[in-house]
Amino acid sequence: MPLDTALQRFQRQIETALEHWLPATNVAPSSLHEAMRYAVLGPGKRIRPVLVYATGEIFGTPLSQLDSSAVAVELIHAYSLVHDDLPAMDDDDLRRGRPTCHRAFDEATAILAGDALQALAFEVLARDESLKVGAECRLVMFRELAEASGSRGMAGGQAIDLAAVGQRLSLAALETMHLYKTGALIRASVRLGFLASEQRDVEQAERLDRYARNIGLAFQVQDDILDVEGTTETIGKPQGSDQDRDKPTYPNILGMAEAKATATRLCREAIDALDCFGPSADPLRQLAEYIVKRDR
Ligand code: IPE
Ligand code: IPE
Ligand code: MG
Ligand code: MG
Ligand code: MG
Repeated sequence: MPLDTALQRFQRQIETALEHWLPATNVAPSSLHEAMRYAVLGPGKRIRPVLVYATGEIFGTPLSQLDSSAVAVELIHAYSLVHDDLPAMDDDDLRRGRPTCHRAFDEATAILAGDALQALAFEVLARDESLKVGAECRLVMFRELAEASGSRGMAGGQAIDLAAVGQRLSLAALETMHLYKTGALIRASVRLGFLASEQRDVEQAERLDRYARNIGLAFQVQDDILDVEGTTETIGKPQGSDQDRDKPTYPNILGMAEAKATATRLCREAIDALDCFGPSADPLRQLAEYIVKRDR
């Protein structure tokens, strides 16, 4: 299932913005910059930037004012993938249909590329003059992205994931792991789109967060499903990696049918959370559908 044309517009927007902010390879240290560009500019789906833009457009925010938030979340995401694939973590050789960063370069370069991408994400948020919010709001955006990336967000979820290898987690523990490792950054993407639009309405913020929490979990449930049912060629990463490493996943805890039912239910709950918004939230609704129907 391809993304709707409205969402493809956001995918084109992020490619230009990423190209703008990533250091050129003729700037020293060029091999590090090459690895950063390699990790980011591969054919990713750009779901997190698309969420930033789609949220901002509900409020009529021009895409140029959302670029730095979109770039920041994608840089954090790309960094998390580079480190996730390292031998000390999932030890995978294929990402986005190409050799993983540590395979294409070397382990030290991949670690540093991840470090530098994380730092660049915050630099972009700090420097961008097209972001029209005041200093206080920018600081809130900083804090929320940092929290979502750190030990109470993505990095924390990765720690739980690694500690869970070979264990049979309860459904509640599995849900917590997924909400941290994948959900936190997806929630932050929606939050940044909202904050970059200078919005403050508490009820709308709460609705959007409920949407984001549900699609964040659904996203990782579908990722687990694709590890079983996808093909390496389509998903662009090694099919069966979770099973090989004995990871707890939704399909192996709940069974495949129940995992799929969970993804569908989460998608419905996400869409229900948006019922206070009109047609301007349709791209977010389509994205929720895409997240549980995608084959890559
Ligand atoms: C993969 O994320 C890692 C997870 C958090 C499940 P994506 O499926 O968004 O990866 P890309 O960016 O499209 O390659
Ligand atoms: C990784 O989850 C989530 C991240 C924070 C990168 P996975 O390990 O399931 O992601 P894939 O399947 O390798 O993309
Ligand atoms: Mg992993
Ligand atoms: Mg992995
Ligand atoms: Mg996975």
